[in-house]
Amino acid sequence: MKGLLITLEGIDGSGKSTAAKQIASRLAELMPERRLVLTAEPTTGQVGKILRAELARASSIETRPPAAKQMQELFLFMADHAHHLTKTVLPALETGAIVLSDRYADSTAAYQGVTLRGIVPDPVHWIQSIYRPWNLLPDRTLLFVLDPHAALQRMQSRRGRQKFERLEFLRLVDENFRRLAALEPERFVQIDAEQDAKKVAEEAIKAILNVIYK
Ligand code: TMP
Repeated sequence: MKGLLITLEGIDGSGKSTAAKQIASRLAELMPERRLVLTAEPTTGQVGKILRAELARASSIETRPPAAKQMQELFLFMADHAHHLTKTVLPALETGAIVLSDRYADSTAAYQGVTLRGIVPDPVHWIQSIYRPWNLLPDRTLLFVLDPHAALQRMQSRRGRQKFERLEFLRLVDENFRRLAALEPERFVQIDAEQDAKKVAEEAIKAILNVIYK
């Protein structure tokens, strides 16, 4: 049986992590015989841990970090993605599993595509060109679309806000995600994340079943 890679993307607060858990348990009910791997980036591996610590620390920094720091962050995200691919995603796909990844390479293009503005020309495109020779494209990418203002309001109650949660920043990330979706309309399915959580999960499951039974 052929493995299937489904990725979930969206700005912080778009509800994709909550949906990921609901999708995973519903798919397990619908297809008890099929192996399902729920995974995420940043990973829980060594580089992922460094990234999470860096992101938490950066929340108190107001000024724009130097270019070298932004590049360091980009390459940490890329190293974490390479680790994720080799240790988790590819081996799971080889067993025929459905791999559900909460964030993947498109997050790097969308987020670091913002942090690298003014450092490299057209950073989204540049990041994609670095990934292209070695990345595995998902079979489907579900993009959870939510107005950044609403996303920030949802996150207000959460503790430990990270630097990526500011409104202006999220607006730019949102634009990048929409641009990525417009470039590959066959791979991306846009989910209206403004709806209540149950409806969001239902729509996401429908999109995944469409890929499985196409
Ligand atoms: P999470 O909240 O989905 O766990 O992700 C942690 C933060 O890391 C989130 O603000 C998005 C950001 N991020 C990037 O900037 N680049 C990436 O490549 C990934 C995977 C996440």
